[in-house]
Amino acid sequence: MATILRTDQENPAEDEVREGARVIREGGLVVFPTETVYGLGANAFSEEACRKIFKAKERPADNPLIVHISSLDRLNEVAENVPHDLIGKLEKVWPGPVTLLFHKGSLIPDLVTGGSSLVAVRIPANKLALRLIELAGVPIAAPSANVSTRPSITDSRYAISELEGRVDLIFDSGPTSRGLESTIIDVSGKTPVLLRAGSKPVEELKEIFGDIEVTDFARGMLESSIPLAPGMKYRHYSPNKKLFLASSLELLHIVAGNDSLKGRVVIMGSDELCASSSLACIKLGPEGDHHQAGRRLFSALRELEQLPEPVGVIMPFSEAGTGLAIMNRIRKASTAAFSSLEELQKLIF
Ligand code: TXA
Ligand code: MG
Repeated sequence: MATILRTDQENPAEDEVREGARVIREGGLVVFPTETVYGLGANAFSEEACRKIFKAKERPADNPLIVHISSLDRLNEVAENVPHDLIGKLEKVWPGPVTLLFHKGSLIPDLVTGGSSLVAVRIPANKLALRLIELAGVPIAAPSANVSTRPSITDSRYAISELEGRVDLIFDSGPTSRGLESTIIDVSGKTPVLLRAGSKPVEELKEIFGDIEVTDFARGMLESSIPLAPGMKYRHYSPNKKLFLASSLELLHIVAGNDSLKGRVVIMGSDELCASSSLACIKLGPEGDHHQAGRRLFSALRELEQLPEPVGVIMPFSEAGTGLAIMNRIRKASTAAFSSLEELQKLIF
């Protein structure tokens, strides 16, 4: 069973972080908070340690891991041929929820990149994570800490229930501050390409990196297109319950007011909608507050699993700003979309 250390993310106790760093150096697995989601980390230089990540997470071997570093001056330990004119841009996004692809450095095992010559790197904006990497003295390879296909983990209580028997140490540090994974861009070619919409809105990244290619794939629209980030082709974020996406907020209001769905359907919607719902309702934050919704989404999917009703119905979001990532995650987590009450009834009865 894992050692569980209760530690404040923003003011972490040095002794406890040191213990985590020791586990990393000795080739073990540590679950730690970042500003986005919890990560399941190991020494990125050790193939043997990283192999344990794939096993603990039940992750397919062709799905590569993000390498986390603690400062820009250590980028050259994990990546090669980083264009000089990128450095100023990196200073603007790091530490932060942005992952970039570079040519892989020779110290990074092929296992970490799934055989690709490119490596994904980020500096997380979280005091505990940064100190852990610093004290470990090595970069930390870490995917999101959930078991494969499950919703990402944004609160340590879910890390403990899901991973206690699979890892060596878990930092019990409560909810993460952002709740959606990092935005991933490939900057290794001519035009930067968005590989995964994430916590940092692509609009803001365009101001730094210039034009960024946004494919339908990164929006989660096309099941059949070629996945750019290997991980995006897998079933993802699935709660162990049916989840249906309403085509509009008006429709969700109709569903929420329908007494005949009591005991069968849980609504996942804004605080305002929940206040007027006659059905059980999981709050995703105030209407129009994408930041709160992003922060709450993954924990809300796990709350849904614990309620007695067999079906969840979730609201749609506009795809501006963080909404692009929120809708990407919702599309992947949901069983189907519906555009009328009759259609929903057919789906659930
Ligand atoms: O916010 C985050 O990014 C969190 C925290 C822990 O940093 N990590 C995370 O990791 O979400 P993961 O493994 O759940 O998602 C990483 C995605 C996967 O879709 C993977 O395929 C892609 O990044 N990826 C990683 N390395 C890659 C590479 N070398 N080339 C292309 N895609 C890569
Ligand atoms: Mg993940």
